[in-house]
Amino acid sequence: MIRLDQVSYTYANSISPVIKNITLNVEAGEKLVVLGKNGSGKSTLARLMNASLVPDTGNLTVNGLNSRQAENRRIIRQQVSLLGAMPDHGFVSNLVEEDIAFGPENLGLPPSDIRKRVDTALNLVSMEDYATYPPYLLSGGQKQRIALAGMLAMQPAGMIIDESLDMLSRRGRSEMINLLVKISREQATTLVLITQSIEDIWWADRVAVLEQGEIKLLTTPRQLLLQLQLIEEMGLQLPEITRIIQSINQMAGTTIPADITELNTLVEILCPLL
Ligand SMILES: Nc1ncnc2c1ncn2[C@@H]1O[C@H](COP(=O)(O)OP(=O)(O)OP(=O)(O)O)[C@@H](O)[C@H]1O
Ligand SMILES: [Mg+2]
Repeated sequence: MIRLDQVSYTYANSISPVIKNITLNVEAGEKLVVLGKNGSGKSTLARLMNASLVPDTGNLTVNGLNSRQAENRRIIRQQVSLLGAMPDHGFVSNLVEEDIAFGPENLGLPPSDIRKRVDTALNLVSMEDYATYPPYLLSGGQKQRIALAGMLAMQPAGMIIDESLDMLSRRGRSEMINLLVKISREQATTLVLITQSIEDIWWADRVAVLEQGEIKLLTTPRQLLLQLQLIEEMGLQLPEITRIIQSINQMAGTTIPADITELNTLVEILCPLL
């Protein structure tokens, strides 16, 4: 669905390319995590993927539409929504429901369709009781949900979530991810989650690890966990459970596999050893 073919990008004032010759095909309905530390080019990649930026060289196509043609960009942006950090700046209205209606209104849809889309979106994020609330009175997590509802009301075929969950508590973050994955499954939407954290990525079909504008590794979440050295070399933090397994193995001389993601599984292995 989102296809990058040898894409490179340099900002007007940057010395070297920020995205270097990336080739990647995100399939329709696929759930992809893009992992990388600060400055690795994740947000730039996201902006290229929804045609907010156009590659210097190479091509970005969404369902066959090339972002090089100006007339395709608006359509690409409708098909691939990008939710960035700090949704506060995105609120345009004093009422939650008006805010969510803003996008569909710009599509020129009839009022009854807009109403339906707003109600459905509010339901999907479990915020139907807040339709007539002012967004600024909501908590951080609720604002995230409303920003997401605004995105869903546009019925995009693809959603890119750019680290906008990092302001949430760990629990809030994992609730939001569960919600995104559920929506992606139910509506068969493509989901690209951009993050610096290896926690909460087990639902993904693939993980692309970005380093200095290049895809260093394209693999499955579990396979990634078996590359402990590479993860540490890249300055990414291991998931908590993996760090615990590492410590146990070092201290007790055990060989518990590093690709365990569930606490229950770890406990089942540990109990007979005690
Ligand atoms: N508008 C811009 N103009 C010039 N350089 C930029 C611009 N935006 C980003 N950069 C540079 O491009 C590189 C990649 O930035 P980008 O924001 O894509 O990284 P990131 O992986 O999203 O980082 P973070 O984890 O901090 O969000 C950085 O070196 C950054 O300084
Ligand atoms: Mg970023």
